Amino acid sequence: MMARILVIDDNADLLQMIRLLLEDQGGHEVILSAEGEDGLARALDNPPDLAIVDVMMPGITGYEVCRRLRQEPSTADTPIIILTARGQPVDRQMALEAGADEYIAKPVTMTVLLERVNRLLAQRAVRPAAPTPGMIALVSLRGGVGVTTLAVNLAVIYARQSPDQVCLVDLSTSSGHAALQLGLRPDPNWSALALLDADPGEVAVRNYLLAHPAGLHLLAAPFVPVIGEGPTGEMMLSTLTLLRQGFNTVVVDLPSVLLEGTMAVLEAADAIGVVTTADPPAIQTTVGTLQVLRSFIPKVRLILNQVAPGTPVSVEALQRVLKQPLVASIPFDAGQAEALAHGKPLALTTPQSPLAQGAARVAAALVGASVRPSAT
Ligand SMILES: Nc1ncnc2c1ncn2[C@@H]1O[C@H](COP(=O)(O)OP(=O)(O)O)[C@@H](O)[C@H]1O
Ligand SMILES: [Mg+2]
Repeated sequence: MMARILVIDDNADLLQMIRLLLEDQGGHEVILSAEGEDGLARALDNPPDLAIVDVMMPGITGYEVCRRLRQEPSTADTPIIILTARGQPVDRQMALEAGADEYIAKPVTMTVLLERVNRLLAQRAVRPAAPTPGMIALVSLRGGVGVTTLAVNLAVIYARQSPDQVCLVDLSTSSGHAALQLGLRPDPNWSALALLDADPGEVAVRNYLLAHPAGLHLLAAPFVPVIGEGPTGEMMLSTLTLLRQGFNTVVVDLPSVLLEGTMAVLEAADAIGVVTTADPPAIQTTVGTLQVLRSFIPKVRLILNQVAPGTPVSVEALQRVLKQPLVASIPFDAGQAEALAHGKPLALTTPQSPLAQGAARVAAALVGASVRPSAT
């Protein structure tokens, strides 16, 4: 099975060796690039069947190349092998978090490389499709930690990967801000849906959605806060079930209270992102939240977001306190205030911004949280 393989490495000798190997012994077509930006441009210009990327290069690193390839729909599923200088668990972790399928520690044995390349190509040939995000719920019982911001940016990122397959649902009962962050007027919203006694059906539920040019749809929250419990768990679930039939990705921005409906959504979700900041009240709330959600722990992913400027937090220290790994640490991003004011999420306008990059890591960590085939 002949494939087009892109190899990005600043070491000219290694490049030639890999080319000889893949062409002569593998029977593949090989495109060489000595530099990250150039390699990226080539990949996006004409997506290869597989990419081999070195980590340490002048300019952007291989991890960055990998992340950017994952963000583009045309290369989101391209098999990627990362060549790392060291073979420590942390290097493997970094490679996988960047979105690589495999990592190989240098020095690279040519037989191993060829074997991995052919194995990945064979897997690709039989693998039907990459896992879709499914239903992703984002929650924090401490308001103001960036749940809505993250939900909106995640929806934008997923919509870039599969346009028109993404629905964002704002279940806030206190004047939700998802519509605001997307520059949309929250009309219609779910308050009308909540009044129906019967299930509207998959087609009719679309009448309650707002469309955004980024290729996503929004079930907005009512502008006027709801007095009392808000929509019932039953109503939320039936709506979400309908939306799941029409969209491969449903991102839910949950209110910061464990209402009956919140629990129902957490139960039904394929993955749960628990968002926290690193100030003592948020940490306390997160510790408590993880206790309440302990039956969901296998699908829970912990996310640190810094909503205020200040000294960066020690991720290790926080992980020790929370007794859970963090899948992403999103730095404070001074651009977010303007993004909010203009109703234009950073993932849309500035994919290279720290917040958008952080959201991309979260997006990757939440997909197929339990089903993604693990790389070796
Ligand atoms: N990483 C970040 N950098 C800077 N500001 C942020 C960041 N994340 C969120 N914010 C800001 O923090 C505030 C609270 O975020 P929001 O998403 O509304 O939180 P929540 O939904 O948890 O209440 C908003 O003004 C938002 O723009
Ligand atoms: Mg919110």
